[in-house]
Amino acid sequence: MTTRPVGVFDSGIGGLSVLRALRAELPHQPFVYVADSGQAPYGERDTGHVVARSQALTRHLRKAHDIQTLVVACNTATAAAIHLLRDEHPDLPIVGLEPALKPAALASHNGRVGVLATRGTLASVKFKALHDSVANQATFVLRACDGLADAIERQDLPRIEALAREHVSALGICGLAAGAIDTVVLGCTHYPLIEPLLRSLLGPDVLLLESGAPVARQTRRVLPELAQIGVPVLAWASTGPPEDLQRAVQRWLGLQARVEALRV
Ligand code: DGL
Repeated sequence: MTTRPVGVFDSGIGGLSVLRALRAELPHQPFVYVADSGQAPYGERDTGHVVARSQALTRHLRKAHDIQTLVVACNTATAAAIHLLRDEHPDLPIVGLEPALKPAALASHNGRVGVLATRGTLASVKFKALHDSVANQATFVLRACDGLADAIERQDLPRIEALAREHVSALGICGLAAGAIDTVVLGCTHYPLIEPLLRSLLGPDVLLLESGAPVARQTRRVLPELAQIGVPVLAWASTGPPEDLQRAVQRWLGLQARVEALRV
């Protein structure tokens, strides 16, 4: 019997940073990845739109691929919709992402943490509850990185660089000096894709935290069927131009992908 796939979706290519961690943790597991690139970015859209897209993609993944588990590889969609997805699909294990504020509070020596995320994530009820739960453990400097996920999605290098510079400098002084931000949370799955650039702007001493590896471990814990041998089948679909996802998969995962053009 073949193992059913794990479904993974994001507003676009950002979830590839999560899929990279998932494949490292679960090397034999089949995955189906959906990029909602035709509707990206989510981070500056209203919540209703993100909820409707998350519901449509989840229904599609169940119906067309009979997924055994869903990973919402998007902080914005998790914040907006994960509780509604769980209500609608009580029989489906669903793993979401949240910005790594708790690990950051533990790791920061200066007690000053920068958080880079989308406007939608930072404005959400879910993020507010998370922030409130750790607010007494560190000072969090929040930055809504308008435009950055979109620039990464389009691979617009001059814009990526200009926006990354603007948003990082808005955090204030970063480094190990007393009072400086020494830990930065990458609270959007697109941002790990430009980690070298962020690292060059933040300096070598700042700790960067993302959620891919913990999410992969959590996925392993909840998986009903774990594939333990064989080369897994990977399936790809995008609501945007298939060649964009194909290029991104080649670039970040080193894989040749045949991408289905999806209309949902
Ligand atoms: N990658 C997504 C996240 O983790 C959203 C980016 C966007 O579409 O704005 O928040």
